[in-house]
Amino acid sequence: MYITSIHLENFRNYTEGDVVFTDKTNILYGDNAQGKTNILEAAYLSATTGSHRMSRDKDMIRFNCEEAHITLNVMKRDVEHRIDMHLRKNKNKMVYVDRLPIKRTTELFGLINIIFFSPEDLSIVKEGPKERRRFMDMELCQLSRIYLNNLSDYNKVLIQRNNLLRSILYDHKGSAGQLLDTLDIWDDQLVQFGKRVISERKNFIDMLKDVVVKVHEKITGGRETIDIRYEPAVDPEEFAESLKKRRDQDLKYTATSVGPHRDDIGIYIDQNDVRTFGSQGQQRTAALTLKLAEIELVKSMISDTPILLLDDVMSELDEKRRGALIDSLEGIQSIITCTGYSDFIRDRMSPENAGNNRIFFVSKGTVKQVV
Ligand SMILES: Nc1ncnc2c1ncn2[C@@H]1O[C@H](COP(=O)(O)OP(=O)(O)OP(=O)(O)O)[C@@H](O)[C@H]1O
Ligand SMILES: [Mg+2]
Repeated sequence: MYITSIHLENFRNYTEGDVVFTDKTNILYGDNAQGKTNILEAAYLSATTGSHRMSRDKDMIRFNCEEAHITLNVMKRDVEHRIDMHLRKNKNKMVYVDRLPIKRTTELFGLINIIFFSPEDLSIVKEGPKERRRFMDMELCQLSRIYLNNLSDYNKVLIQRNNLLRSILYDHKGSAGQLLDTLDIWDDQLVQFGKRVISERKNFIDMLKDVVVKVHEKITGGRETIDIRYEPAVDPEEFAESLKKRRDQDLKYTATSVGPHRDDIGIYIDQNDVRTFGSQGQQRTAALTLKLAEIELVKSMISDTPILLLDDVMSELDEKRRGALIDSLEGIQSIITCTGYSDFIRDRMSPENAGNNRIFFVSKGTVKQVV
């Protein structure tokens, strides 16, 4: 699948703008703060209904405007689809698929598969578990509607439970006893949704594992052996029991101390934990491996090619790692941002590579195709 074009109105620093893409490599280059990432964000948002930087709708609307509009045209299995997204300041966004309004944003699910790759992804191994959970969730939410629903239910229950813990601690009306009874109900639900989240994350990491091993072997020339493991914060069979055991502690700190919101992915090279013992280079290579493996896995799961958005990652990689990334662009539509007219662009535009690749110059919220 690939994006054929995008149209923006009052989105971020764009008053109005159109970009027509090729199904191969598209490069957006320009100085800092000109609007390169904003184009990728608009594409990601239209495909998933959420911003990759978790921005709120009203922050993406151009300053002093009431609404922003994005139209994304996508070619999927030879059929063109159109997604219209209207962002409104203090109201929910409106989404249309092929000109028909959808009631819930989850109805967009499964239409487009898009992978966002930013420099922050290169630190997911060295950063904390939160980044690694986000890595699993961003992909799983696109691949499985059931996961998306379970995770969102789990997160809702978690917020409710934490609110309740606070209400019990700061109880001024003497109703803590009754509130404690309701805690049981939230605990049951937390366990119910939590178990499903754990089970899907486990399946995902099990599938990713084999691909990770192959990709890593290729990047490192087989010098090191990688292994990844899903590390759930709690055994699903003991989740209910653990919640009970920790209830006093949870009440004291007004936070839920156990559950998949504390999960992690373990990454080991030659049996050593790369998260704590890896060199910077090993951590970056492992992070790149996870991302490239994600591309491969999605490709095989959807029997189609996902769309790849690369935000300024080329300049972050040395020649060898960049080579591995460029290899995996083969046959996939990519939209790549960079600040300079670098060696990478020259290479993409060399006579043997030029083909249908396109280059766009981005300046002050305007995009001009230069090649
Ligand atoms: N809601 C908004 N309305 C108007 N302008 C905005 C809004 N949100 C962000 N901007 C502007 O968009 C510009 C940043 O765009 P973007 O993040 O796409 O830059 P970039 O070209 O990717 O830069 P870099 O190379 O530094 O990553 C900034 O000048 C910022 O002020
Ligand atoms: Mg940027």
